[in-house]
Amino acid sequence: MPMRLQKFLARAGAASRRGSEALMTAGRVTVNGVVVTELGSKVDPSADVVAVDGKVVRLTDVPVTLMLNKPAGYVTTMSDPHARHTVAELVPTDRFPGLFPIGRLDQDTTGLLLFSTDGELGNRLLHPRHHVEKTYEALVEGVPREEALEALRCGIQLEDGMTAPARVGLVPSCAGDPKGSARLELAIHEGRKRQVRRMCEAVGHPVVALHREWFGPLTLDGLEPGAWRLLDAAELAALGEAAGLGASC
Ligand code: URA
Repeated sequence: MPMRLQKFLARAGAASRRGSEALMTAGRVTVNGVVVTELGSKVDPSADVVAVDGKVVRLTDVPVTLMLNKPAGYVTTMSDPHARHTVAELVPTDRFPGLFPIGRLDQDTTGLLLFSTDGELGNRLLHPRHHVEKTYEALVEGVPREEALEALRCGIQLEDGMTAPARVGLVPSCAGDPKGSARLELAIHEGRKRQVRRMCEAVGHPVVALHREWFGPLTLDGLEPGAWRLLDAAELAALGEAAGLGASC
């Protein structure tokens, strides 16, 4: 099926859609050896040879997985009928069509959100069978006593059932934290709606701010809020292993 050249370039990962247009107008793109600068031009991906600066680019079926450091205020959906800000604005959907978020973070939760074009990987990572641990830091009202921490560790009765055992501990406060608050690190395996917020609320310590630092073996590792990056080969292998796909993923 013929497709617009700038779309082909974006899909092949040469640049974003806009960047691809810029490559074309700069005369850096050839189709079958001929420079093409006209933006409406079409190519047949199965027949034409497209090159950028002389280097052939191809459409690839290799799946793409990336992480975003989600800022607060963005809804985890790829489109929103209510026209709120969505995470789709923050990831390169032009370059990698078919990206979807693996799980969700609440609108006001910040931190590590994975995206992939690989449906099987996404399904496996979210399946309770694989017990992928997600680690959050929660700023909570009040300072939880040991009994509250123990209750969070053992399981909390929520309206949708008992929570599974979790790893929970107090971590040092940060400069600027409100007086009479505390910071908790919670590592859970489940992914129920607003789970951490409901767990903390249930022990009398509502969440003021929530941040996810780890998803299974992956961590943000200094990625700026609002920024994304592709996973490297070691991260992909570790994630595949966590999802029960073996180290070859
Ligand atoms: N738990 C929550 O309560 N909210 C999130 O965004 C993620 C986990």
